[in-house]
Amino acid sequence: MIHIRPEDRVFILTGAGLSAESGIPTFRGSDGLWRNFRIEEVASPVAWRNDPRLVWEFYSWRREVAAQCKPNPAHLALAQLEQTLGERLFHCTQNVDSLLEQAGCNNVCHMHGRLMQSRCERAACRQPPFDDRNSYPTLESVPICQCGGRIRPHICWFGEVPYHLEEIGAALDHCTIFICIGSSGVVHPAAGFAAQVKGRHGTRSYYIGPEEPANRRYFDENFWGKAGEVLPKILALK
Ligand code: OAD
Repeated sequence: MIHIRPEDRVFILTGAGLSAESGIPTFRGSDGLWRNFRIEEVASPVAWRNDPRLVWEFYSWRREVAAQCKPNPAHLALAQLEQTLGERLFHCTQNVDSLLEQAGCNNVCHMHGRLMQSRCERAACRQPPFDDRNSYPTLESVPICQCGGRIRPHICWFGEVPYHLEEIGAALDHCTIFICIGSSGVVHPAAGFAAQVKGRHGTRSYYIGPEEPANRRYFDENFWGKAGEVLPKILALK
């Protein structure tokens, strides 16, 4: 069990495994996305420069898949935890889907962006990301921003800096419980968060998932199994 006391501040880090039971493919498993797609062709600034149509084909397909999926019991358990802990919970997700919000979460920090949002490709453009569930099958169908830039997915690609890092760093500094759910522990900076809190006096760290993550040594305790089956059983609020 993970015992959460009234004085605890909880940092949750979620990864693709959280949404696996909802039907959203993970990235590195045996049928993971990166087995069928090359990162440098669909998820990098170079890919965008070379072939924006192919990039939009990939993200349009992912939008269509995600639109069919429903939250699973792990998303629902996290929504309940948010309601109970309020300000004492900081939930950082690497997931770009909206299943946590669909489950009732109101306060999730999406460090890798949002699948259902788009933004201008130009860093200097002042227009903020906007909700967008559309698919763009051709380059001609992709909207152009008022500034003349092409609209791109609001996703942090390889080679780009994740969002909200300052806020995340502050929450890591103050947490007394760190829980990572369904992440392989290979993509930085998120893979380094467990190491940041390891050994800090008064902070406990836990991993939940069916397989050993690459950063396993930085967790005090592991709960092996699927998030949807394990998580609802192990959170104990005191
Ligand atoms: P990965 O695909 O690398 O890892 C998914 C993890 O989930 C694996 O360790 C699995 O063992 C675990 N898993 C599978 N099914 C599970 C279940 N039912 N319950 C719990 N865990 C389960 O995904 P991430 O670590 O999230 O970034 O990947 C990190 C980043 O790499 C992603 O955000 C994405 C990707 O490239 C970008 O696209 C920027």
